[in-house]
Amino acid sequence: MPTNPYESDELLQQYLVFHYATATEQFPYGFGGADALDFPKRCALEGVDFSRLSEPARALDLGCSVGRSSFELARHCSEVIGIDYSHAFIDVAKRLQVDGQHPATRLDEGSATTALDVIVDPVVDRSRVSFEQGDAQHIRPDIGQFDVVIACNLICRLPEPMRLLARLPDLLKPGGQLFITTPFTWLEEYTPSQNWLGDGAQDSFAGLRRALEPAFGLQRQWDMPFLIREHARKFQYSIAQASCWTRN
Ligand SMILES: C[S@@+](CC[C@H](N)C(=O)[O-])C[C@H]1O[C@@H](n2cnc3c(N)ncnc32)[C@H](O)[C@@H]1O
Repeated sequence: MPTNPYESDELLQQYLVFHYATATEQFPYGFGGADALDFPKRCALEGVDFSRLSEPARALDLGCSVGRSSFELARHCSEVIGIDYSHAFIDVAKRLQVDGQHPATRLDEGSATTALDVIVDPVVDRSRVSFEQGDAQHIRPDIGQFDVVIACNLICRLPEPMRLLARLPDLLKPGGQLFITTPFTWLEEYTPSQNWLGDGAQDSFAGLRRALEPAFGLQRQWDMPFLIREHARKFQYSIAQASCWTRN
C-alpha cells in the first residue's frame, strides 16, 4: 500500500503555511502571486452566500486539511464539521481548535527553515467547529443534513469521486449551498483514469455537471487562483475551477 503523502510532515507544514501564514510570510515579493493567497479563506467567504442562511446554520468542510476554511465558515455558521482522511492534518486541526494556535515550520531553502506560530483569528468562535478523520467517499450515515457543504480541491484526490458526488444530494437540505473547487489535476496515483470525470477527463466540468444535475442547480462558476509555497523561490500557482450549486 503506497504511503499517503498527506500524512507526511512535509505536506503538513506546507499546508499549515498555506492555510494560516500571513501574506508576507508566504510570498514576500511585490510582483505576481499575491492575488492567489488566502485560498482557504476565500473558499469560505467567496463560495458561500451567507445572506441566504438562516440561523442556526450547519456547514460541512470535506477534505478540510488543517482547517482554515472550517474556521472561516464558523464566522457565519453555528456548527461546522471538518472531515479529512489524513490523521496528521486532523490531529493538528484539532489542536488549533483547542489552542487557537500551533507551531509551523516554513521551508526557506535547502535545510533553512523559519519557525512560525500560526493562529486562528481570535474573533472566530472555535467551539462551533469540530474535526473528524474520515473518508469523504464513505461519510458516516448519521451525520445529518447541512445548509452548506464545501469540497475544495478534493475531488481529484479521491479514488472514486462519484461515490462522494452521489452522496451529496442527501447531505444538503433543500435550498442548501454546495461549493466545489478543483484544478482537475487528475493523477493515476490518486484516481484510476476510468474514474476521471467527463469521459476520462475530456471535459471534467461537464462530467461534474452531469453528476450533480438535476439534484443541484448550477448558480455560477469562475476561476480561482491559489498559491502554495514550496520554498522561498518555488511556488505552485494553480487555477481551480470554482462552482456554486443549490440543492433543488
Ligand atoms: C489538495 S488538498 C486540499 C485541502 C483543502 N481543502 C484546501 O483547499 O487547502 C486535498 C485534501 O483532501 C484530503 N483527502 C484526500 N482523500 C480524502 C478522502 N478520501 N476523504 C477526505 N479527505 C481526503 C487530503 O488529506 C487533503 O487534505
